[in-house]
Amino acid sequence: MRILLTGAGGQIGRDLIAELVRRAPAADPPTIVATDLRPPPAAVTADDPPGVSWRGLDVVDEAATRALIADVRPDLVFHLAAILSAKGETEPQLAYAVNQTGTWNVLEACRATGVPRLVFTSSIAVYGPGLPDPTPDDVPLHPTTMYGATKAAGELLCEYYTRRGWVDCRGVRFPGLISAGLPGGGSSDYALFMYVDGVRRGAYEAFCRADTRIPLMYMPDGVRALAEIAEAPRDRLRRCIYNLAGFSPRADEIAASVGRAVPGVAITYAPEPLRQAILDSWPSALDDRAAATDWGWRARFDLDAMTDDLVPRIRALLARTGAAGA
Ligand SMILES: NC(=O)c1ccc[n+]([C@@H]2O[C@H](COP(=O)([O-])OP(=O)(O)OC[C@H]3O[C@@H](n4cnc5c(N)ncnc54)[C@H](O)[C@@H]3O)[C@@H](O)[C@H]2O)c1
Repeated sequence: MRILLTGAGGQIGRDLIAELVRRAPAADPPTIVATDLRPPPAAVTADDPPGVSWRGLDVVDEAATRALIADVRPDLVFHLAAILSAKGETEPQLAYAVNQTGTWNVLEACRATGVPRLVFTSSIAVYGPGLPDPTPDDVPLHPTTMYGATKAAGELLCEYYTRRGWVDCRGVRFPGLISAGLPGGGSSDYALFMYVDGVRRGAYEAFCRADTRIPLMYMPDGVRALAEIAEAPRDRLRRCIYNLAGFSPRADEIAASVGRAVPGVAITYAPEPLRQAILDSWPSALDDRAAATDWGWRARFDLDAMTDDLVPRIRALLARTGAAGA
C-alpha cells in the first residue's frame, strides 16, 4: 500500500505516520511518502520507521501537486495541509489559498492520476453559533472564520468527487486535538498549553475564559480515527464526513485535571478577543453516533485518562529538548 500525506510535518502528521506503520501487517509494511512545504530536518526524521520518505510539496502549486501525485501514484492520500483557525484569521488570504485552492489541487491531482481514496480532515470550525448541544452532523453550516468556510467547502468538494465516482473521499470533523507536540495555531491550543506550561513553568495564563467549553480529543484517538475511516468499506459509509466526539470539558475542568497530575500548578485566564470569539462560535459538544454506527468509531480517552497519559510524555519531551524549567 502506497500512502501519501500532505502537511505531514504538523501536529497530526507525525503521529499518523506512526499509527499507520503500527497497524500494517509486519509482512506488508506500507510505503509512506510524507510531504510538507519543507521536509523536516534529518535530525527529526532520523527515527522514522523504514518505508517513510519525505518530499517537499506546496499544495497551492497546482503543477507541482499534480506532478508529485502522478509520480508517487498512491493508493491512499491523507490531506492534512492547512492553515488553522487562529492563524487563518490573521492571514485569511493565505488560509483561502492553502485550504481552498490547495484542497482543490489535491483532489484534481488525485482524479487525474486515478488515486482511489482520499481522507479529508475537517473541523468543528465548520459550525457557527446557536446550534443544538450536542451538535449533530447535519445542521446549517454558517462558519464565522475563513478556516471554517474553507473546511465546509472542502467537505462539499469531497462529497462531489465521491458522487461523481472520481475519488472515494471520506473524512472527519475533528474537535480540538491535544498531543505531546507543538500546537499548530488552532484556537484550542490553550488546552495543550495548560499541560506544557503547567509542567514546564508551573503556571499558564490561558487566552480564554474559565467557562469556555469546546469538544476536545486526545491525539491517539484522533489518528486511530483517521486510520479507521480510511479502512472502512465504502458500502458501510452512509456519509462522506463524520462528526467525532471526544470529551467536552470547561477550561477550568482541564486546569483541575492538570492540577491533579502537576500539584500546585497555577492556571489563570486572560481572554483574548479574537480567539475567544472563535471559541464561542464553536459547538460545546458533538453528536458522533453516525460514526459509531457506520464504522464502529468510539473514543477511548476521557479527560483524566488523557492527563495521565500526556503528562509523562510532556515531561519526557521537555527533558529531551532541554526546555524543562525554561
Ligand atoms: N489540530 C487540531 O486540533 C485540528 C482540529 C480539526 C482539524 N484539524 C485539521 O487536521 C489537519 C492537520 O492539522 P494539524 O494539527 O497537523 O495542523 P498543523 O498546522 O500542525 O500542520 C499543518 C501542516 O500543513 C503544512 N502546510 C501549510 N501550508 C502548506 C502548503 N501550502 N502546502 C503544504 N503543506 C502546507 C504546514 O507546514 C504544517 O506542517 C488540518 O487540515 C487541520 O485543519 C486539526
